[in-house]
Amino acid sequence: MTKPLAMAQTVAAARRDARQRILMCAPDDFDVRYVINPWMEHQIGKATRSLARAQWEALRRRIAQSTAIELVTPAAGLPDMAFTANAGFVIGDTAVVSRFRAEQRRAEEPLFRAFFAAQGFRLAPWPEEVAFEGAGDALVDRAQELVWCGYGMRSDAAAPRTLETLARRRVIGLELVDARFYHLDTCFCPLSGGYVMYHPPAFAPDSRAAIERETPPDKRIEIGEDDAMRFSCNAVDLDGTIVMNDASPALQARLAAAGFTPVLSPLGEFMKAGGAAKCLTLKLVEA
Ligand code: ARG
Repeated sequence: MTKPLAMAQTVAAARRDARQRILMCAPDDFDVRYVINPWMEHQIGKATRSLARAQWEALRRRIAQSTAIELVTPAAGLPDMAFTANAGFVIGDTAVVSRFRAEQRRAEEPLFRAFFAAQGFRLAPWPEEVAFEGAGDALVDRAQELVWCGYGMRSDAAAPRTLETLARRRVIGLELVDARFYHLDTCFCPLSGGYVMYHPPAFAPDSRAAIERETPPDKRIEIGEDDAMRFSCNAVDLDGTIVMNDASPALQARLAAAGFTPVLSPLGEFMKAGGAAKCLTLKLVEA
């Protein structure tokens, strides 16, 4: 006997997924060629392109099971371009192109701008003097009309307020204090149903208090150092299927208990550059 309710939920989930589109960029020229975060130290020239390609393909295939994928053409000489989370920040029909703090990544800006324009996004102006690294630092909450914006490492302290005027949505700035977790998406992940995975020591005390003020205790999934270092927070939530590089059995059980399905997709080559699943994706549909 089929269960009508379960069936209806599956159909509803499939419909929701059908509206999402995720931007990726093939790692054709992926490499570690400079050091702009602690993960890249001692890794110059150590990434294996063929293995990176296989890991990226596996991630792409897993996401494609439920979600449409858009591809931006990779450019030679831009080894970090595969990290499309840093293309910009998308909300509704508006896109804000990143203003990279890292000189080495600035040449990606016009390429991502052209992509957003070709896709029909309205391009919001962003002040050149304010560093802002897109959806690496600005994350749309999945339960309330709220955007979380990390600052202090790559995006400037002025980024949250600047974003608030453009996004016309409440923005909470979160100050990052551990260089290993230099983008918000390395230590914080809003999930469907109002859950939040986060690594508390990565935040200044006030910012940690802000997360705890906005998120009821039963919705907080605190990530310990070991899981944080596996980039468990750097996860893509595909309507409850949580795709991530790795997670301890305890974290997987915690996610399962909250109704999520963790899926591991190893991305070790990209970890050498300081990124994993979430960094390699950008959701193009954000309400
Ligand atoms: N090597 C890249 C950089 O430091 C990695 C970017 C990871 N992206 C992210 N959204 N955390 O810019």
